[in-house]
Parts: sequence; C-alpha cells; structure tokens
Amino acid sequence: MIIMEVENVTKKFGELVALDNVNLKVKKGEILGIIGPNGAGKTTLFNVISGEMRPTSGKIIFNGRDITGLRPSKIVSLGLVKTFQIMRVFKDMSVLENFITVNPDSMEVMKEFGFWDKRDIRAGDLPQGELRKLGIGLAVATKPRVVLLDEPFSGLSPRESLELHRVIERLREFGITMVIIEHKLRELFNNAERVICLNAGTVLCEGTPEEVVNDPRVIEAYIGG
Ligand SMILES: Nc1ncnc2c1ncn2[C@@H]1O[C@H](COP(=O)(O)OP(=O)(O)OP(=O)(O)O)[C@@H](O)[C@H]1O
Ligand SMILES: [Mg+2]
Repeated sequence: MIIMEVENVTKKFGELVALDNVNLKVKKGEILGIIGPNGAGKTTLFNVISGEMRPTSGKIIFNGRDITGLRPSKIVSLGLVKTFQIMRVFKDMSVLENFITVNPDSMEVMKEFGFWDKRDIRAGDLPQGELRKLGIGLAVATKPRVVLLDEPFSGLSPRESLELHRVIERLREFGITMVIIEHKLRELFNNAERVICLNAGTVLCEGTPEEVVNDPRVIEAYIGG
C-alpha cells in the first residue's frame, strides 16, 4: 500500500530549479533512503512535503488525500512529520516541557526514548546525540504515520549512531514509515530497504542499496559533481 506520493513536483527558486518534476512513492511501513550529492534537492523535497514550502507545481498525496499547500501544523496533525529541529525555544525548555508542549499525552514516548531520567535537564544542555534523539522523539510524540529524517546520523559518535539505529528499528516495529536523507551511506543502508538517488532535482535511480551504490549513474553523479 502506498502511503505517500510525490507527483510531478517542481520547485523553483527564481531561475534555479531545485526540484524538476519529481515523482516518487513511499510504501506503508518501509524505510526509504534518499541519497544524492550536495544541492541535489533532498532537503527541498522534505520542505515541500512537510508544507514549509509550496511546490511551484505538482502534488503531494498523503494517505489518499491531496495535502499540497496545507499548513505544516495541519500536515503534522494528519500524521506526517519531519524530525524537530531543536531551536532556541526548545533548548531553553526542559526535556519534559518539550514533550508536553508537543503533546501532553506523550509520556510513554518520552520513556520509550529513554528520557524519563533526563526529563528535568534543559534540552540545550544535552549532548549532540541526545539532542538529535530528542528531535526524533518529539516528532514521534505527534503520533505520526510517516516521519521524515534529514541527515539524522550527521555529527554523531559511533555509540550515538548505534543507539539511533536501535531507535529507528523500534519505530519500524511500531509501524511508522520513515524517509531518511543521509550522506553516510553505511549508516543508511543498515536501516533502509529501498533507496532513491536524487541529482540536480531529478530522480536518477531507485533500487536496493546495493543496486543504487553500484549504479554507474550514481557514481558519476557523486564524482562528476
Ligand atoms: N530557500 C532557498 N532559496 C534559494 N535557493 C535554495 C533555497 N533552499 C535551497 N536552495 C537551493 O536549492 C538547491 C537544492 O538545495 P537542497 O538544500 O534541497 O539540497 P540538498 O540535496 O539537501 O543538499 P545537501 O546534501 O547539501 O543538504 C541548492 O542549489 C540550494 O542552493
Ligand atoms: Mg540537505
């Protein structure tokens, strides 16, 4: 079953075409990886899906419903969420206050993410890996069906990465569908069963991790720049 569909999406910034008629489908329950060189349009794709940016043309279908142009908060309430960026306002609150702000009924999620003992710590005082985990925990606190993760492994220590793998597998067990943008292919391929490579705003290819890394077009896109 298809839970989300990006249909002929184009996003222009003035003359620059960041997304050029992108089509992709996300299956319910899968972990879909998105790779591609810098500037390929990966983050723009997430911004368009999550409603932070309106596509120049094209549609986003979520759970059978056209969500194009809806407010980000509306899209979150429908069950589609991007991991939280922990900005200053979040950093100044305790871990507990963060969860309560996002959803007062999310204490189980807070515990599940191992934050019960750390609930009174100011979020801004958490180490990098914990802060990243908090951003994912707050996304999960919205009770989503689909979570979008943009480079969740960047800047994490090997130990923190291992813990993040565990968190991602737990979310999968709960039936949460995930789309993960990641430059660290080894980390991504641990979790993702299917990968799409974007390049210059277009879908270059799609397949299993092995198929995609061995695709000459992907190698060319990375080294050709
Ligand atoms: N708000 C914006 N205004 C103007 N141009 C933008 C904006 N956001 C992104 N771009 C441009 O769109 C293109 C795609 O950027 P995007 O951030 O989506 O790439 P990316 O694939 O996420 O790259 P990276 O791997 O470096 O994160 C780039 O050329 C970028 O400079
Ligand atoms: Mg990006």
